[in-house]
Amino acid sequence: MAAEGETRAQPRAARDTVADGAREDAAPARERKVFIRTWGCQMNVYDSERMLGALAARGYAPTERPEEADLILLNTCHIREKAAEKVYSELGRLKPLKAANPGLRIGVAGCVAQAEGEEIVRRQPAVDVVVGPQTYHRLPELLKRAEAGEKVVETEFPAEDKFDHLPAGAPMARRFSAFLTVQEGCDKFCAFCVVPYTRGAEVSRPAEKVLAEARRLVAEGVREITLLGQNVNAYHGEGPDGRDWSLARLVLALAELEGLERIRYTTSHPNDMSDDLIAAHRDCDRLMPYLHLPVQSGSDRILKAMNRRHTAEDYLRLVERIRAARPDMLMSGDFIVGFPGETEADFEATMDLVRKVGYGQAFSFRYSPRPGTPAAGREQVPEAVKAERLARLQALLTEQQRKAQDAMVGQRVRVLFEKPGRLAGQLVGRSEYLHAVHVEAPAALMGKIAEVEIVRSESHSLAGRLVA
Ligand code: SAH
Ligand code: SF4
Ligand code: F3S
Repeated sequence: MAAEGETRAQPRAARDTVADGAREDAAPARERKVFIRTWGCQMNVYDSERMLGALAARGYAPTERPEEADLILLNTCHIREKAAEKVYSELGRLKPLKAANPGLRIGVAGCVAQAEGEEIVRRQPAVDVVVGPQTYHRLPELLKRAEAGEKVVETEFPAEDKFDHLPAGAPMARRFSAFLTVQEGCDKFCAFCVVPYTRGAEVSRPAEKVLAEARRLVAEGVREITLLGQNVNAYHGEGPDGRDWSLARLVLALAELEGLERIRYTTSHPNDMSDDLIAAHRDCDRLMPYLHLPVQSGSDRILKAMNRRHTAEDYLRLVERIRAARPDMLMSGDFIVGFPGETEADFEATMDLVRKVGYGQAFSFRYSPRPGTPAAGREQVPEAVKAERLARLQALLTEQQRKAQDAMVGQRVRVLFEKPGRLAGQLVGRSEYLHAVHVEAPAALMGKIAEVEIVRSESHSLAGRLVA
């Protein structure tokens, strides 16, 4: 999934969530505050919500101000080098807060926590707790130990299912689109990637649990759910009938839920794009016509060196089949330039593939050697070459994205309105294709889907008008 940028979990009514979490001991008299900062992919955003849910059940209310927090949690990403360095510089900035508030505890969660473990406490002694993605349900207990003065590092892959022990994420005020993790971990071991090491082996949640969580979200007003997984289309959770359900089967069951208008999923691997999932895009109108399907490179030689286990031609044929099922599908992708061994000809093959597919959205990165991954020890492409290739690729992708966005002008789309716009009387929402659309619309349309005609394409969004 796209791991660009960072996201800050929004604060919400923490007190509302107490009912969901088993309270192991009484909440403290004074309400404590937690500040959480989230980097990385959507799964980290989802995890941050679940952690806030677990902490709310222990009397922690979220705050947006680290200065007033009793607990600061950094939910981190290890996917590229800069991601980890950002965490250490953030920790350096936060450290002085401990002098002002000796009760403050600082925790590092997420993929850097998993990958670096004790090294984090060594490098930054202000850190009290290090907790990997598979042990968030133990957070309250870990905090108790930290409060007693212990430095706690927990990076196991425990046998129990964390989701069984984590209260549901706290409901966000007026939220209409939500993430729901259905699959976690990865067994693919692409030669560049840390995820199989930080998230562990591929595990699918039972369909019944996913459906129950979806029902709860819909009851809270959610109209769109994005199913999350590192390889979401490899989903094979146990179904209520005792058989393994595919992602397509799960999507079709979710589409039956009254009130759930839209279903999305991310991130998919080309090799797991099964026939039934492609057919679901043809048959299920609640499944949105937007597909994030990373290919990384258009060169067969590089794809092989990356251990992607498919060719450029396989990918192109797959995209053809997807578009035959759903002609308006907006394709999104991830690309890595400057992978070890990439020549100018290999890079040109990537440019070719991009021209053939025509992406409506894309994320592209310079290869970043990650410790412990197979490609890290190979001979590296010089940084200047990577930078130059990335600039060329991004110019092409930007042009394609612009074209796809401009092509929406004059078309009718259906927009799910999610928040007020910048101007009074405006609402902003997303089209089926995930384009942001702002429209003059009554506030009563918030959380609802309405038909909109696109009148203008702007730099990062579309402008539209309600169709009577
Ligand atoms: N499970 C997802 C995504 C994982 S990470 C998938 O299979 O697509 C998101 C993206 O980060 C990847 O698709 C890849 O393009 C990029 N990425 C991963 N490791 C990287 C590395 N070492 N250097 C640069 N980019 C990387
Ligand atoms: Fe990483 Fe490859 Fe697994 Fe995606 S499929 S998480 S890129 S190893
Ligand atoms: Fe980053 Fe971990 Fe997600 S490395 S991209 S936060 S799975």
